[in-house]
Amino acid sequence: MAKKFDRYIITSALPYANGPIHIGHLAGVYVPADIYTRYLRMKGEDVLFIGGSDEHGVPITIKARQEGVSPQKIVDRYHRQIKKSFEDFGISFDIYSRTSASIHHQTASEFFAKLYKEGKFIEKTTEQYYDEETKHFLADRYITGTCPHCGYEKAYGDQCENCGTSLSPLELINPKSALSGNVPVLKETKHWYLPLDQYEDWLKEWILAGHKEDWKSNVYGQVKSWIDHGLKPRAVTRDLEWGVKVPIKEAEGKVLYVWFDAPIGYISATKEWGEKTGKNWEPYWKDKNTKLVHFIGKDNIVFHCIIFPVMLHAEGSYIVPENVPANEFLNLENDKISTSRNWAVWLHEYLEDFPGKQDVLRYVLTANAPETKDNDFTWKDFQARNNNELLAVFGNFVNRTLVLTQKYFNGKVPDTGELDEEAIKVFEQLKKYPGKIAGSLDRYRFREALSELMNLARLGNKYLTDMEPWKLIKTDEEKVKTILNVSLQITANLAILSDPFLPFSASKLRKMLNLPEMKWNEAGNTELLKPGHRLNKPDYLFEKIEDKTIEAQIQKLMDTKKENEKVTTAKPQKEEITYEDFMKMDIRTGTILEAEKVPKTDKLIKLKIDTGIDRRTVVSGIANYYKPEDIIGTKVSVLVNLAPRKLRGIESQGMILMAEDADGKLCFVSPTEEVSDGSEVK
Ligand code: 2FM
Ligand code: ZN
Repeated sequence: MAKKFDRYIITSALPYANGPIHIGHLAGVYVPADIYTRYLRMKGEDVLFIGGSDEHGVPITIKARQEGVSPQKIVDRYHRQIKKSFEDFGISFDIYSRTSASIHHQTASEFFAKLYKEGKFIEKTTEQYYDEETKHFLADRYITGTCPHCGYEKAYGDQCENCGTSLSPLELINPKSALSGNVPVLKETKHWYLPLDQYEDWLKEWILAGHKEDWKSNVYGQVKSWIDHGLKPRAVTRDLEWGVKVPIKEAEGKVLYVWFDAPIGYISATKEWGEKTGKNWEPYWKDKNTKLVHFIGKDNIVFHCIIFPVMLHAEGSYIVPENVPANEFLNLENDKISTSRNWAVWLHEYLEDFPGKQDVLRYVLTANAPETKDNDFTWKDFQARNNNELLAVFGNFVNRTLVLTQKYFNGKVPDTGELDEEAIKVFEQLKKYPGKIAGSLDRYRFREALSELMNLARLGNKYLTDMEPWKLIKTDEEKVKTILNVSLQITANLAILSDPFLPFSASKLRKMLNLPEMKWNEAGNTELLKPGHRLNKPDYLFEKIEDKTIEAQIQKLMDTKKENEKVTTAKPQKEEITYEDFMKMDIRTGTILEAEKVPKTDKLIKLKIDTGIDRRTVVSGIANYYKPEDIIGTKVSVLVNLAPRKLRGIESQGMILMAEDADGKLCFVSPTEEVSDGSEVK
């Protein structure tokens, strides 16, 4: 029999506060974590659901540099936005904290200090890449280069996002500073390492022997492969300014590695919850009868299954996770979700376009969750699941039941009457659903659980359609009472069982049924609604989503694709030159004084240009785009120190600058404001 725990702590990966969140985040981590937590709460378990923003790390400092603002400004902006998105979608955290909070700095700092004092780290001085121009050591995402495993040219110093391999900067081919683009030099620096290799035996016993059966195969497989390849000591400090300061003297100017401090954020957030509620946080992290479950995406597996557990184990006073049900990735319309390419459905934008339809997205993302493999979100599937499942099955059944009860019995629950064979059969089946759904939820099979919930709605829908109470009402009112009583009991059960998945709709349904919040173990009961109980006015739970609404969303993505293509059709950058190379060119603004076609040529126009220095002849290949008479008086930029050369017998004394797009279209590079001829362009 499965172990019974006294309490649960459910954590969900702390998203980086460097951008808004999208459907991939919801599907991979937050919706499943929320379903699981709501289910446990409904079972009456003692459960804490922890979330927060991950506010350190290089992506945040890079974004701050790009915008010319402080990292704090960036994290303040996105923490607020992310927190709101979670609230809007009903992600029911007991606390949503952040790693820039002082309680977190203190907790992470003490954690490090304890391990340091007990000699749990190795100290090593090594050579690391350094950007001499910006004076930064280049760890993690501060450095990019070619992945030695798959050849991807934009791999980061800590990971290749193309093949998923974890990397160290020294492995990159053609390394470049992400700050300046410079080729870095090597420079010595000292860091503290967590000797993961010393914990291999413990990990083997804990995971490989202890969790082969209950961990998802994608998670177990990845962890096993890491352990089988042999673990290496991992640096847990960095030469950066932004982060939790390393609390030892000789580490001045260094901070904790973001992946060392972020998971400690789960503990800090729990402490903050304790302070806010006046409750004791410690049993949630220290009592062996607490079940710790980490909900994460697959790119976080190694951190939650190896590094953080080793940290917890080495520290000595904490429990380790009982399970880490990591999901694979969600794609969007057959393409990887990407923040930089804006290929995403952002939650705040979704809510603008589909106000009040949080449950529809929760439903679709669960029905199509990337539980065992990467999955694809498409707008057509979103529409079909709303119209053919939520609306046609769940909504339709509930609505018909409530409307008919209103119509025939004035909104009062009718007597059960004599249960006939069909009613008995339906009740027998109904009673099995809470167990089936719970069985799937207990094993983190959220898609399966949701599909069982829909099967219960299907059972009700079919029963009502088969029994045709609208035909019987004239001849057999007693039978109609039974039919609607049975249908109402199914509806009340749906109100309980749908709550973890569709909390907004479940709450609306409870109001219509005039029922309070109910516990999970009340489901299966066929007398949830007593005869004579008064129902409230029925309303629609779901609405049809029209083709034009979906087409607008698809169009939005098409526009994004077009925008991205525009960028990618630009020719690749030429070989690097120095500032001195550039400064050799003498470019001036000038005015076209005369223009005439060069006889017997298609392309050439002979121009007389006032360069501010002199008036000179320039021959230019622009006749396909401009008529000579149209360009007289045009302001242009001229490379005046280009060696003269003869074109069709005419000496060209310079070159005018033209912009040329991918299709070969030309246009003048002209000053946008009034400047005198001869002004230097540099
Ligand atoms: O991958 C990420 O988005 C990380 N910010 C997740 C951190 S999870 C935890 F350790 F805080
Ligand atoms: Zn790679």
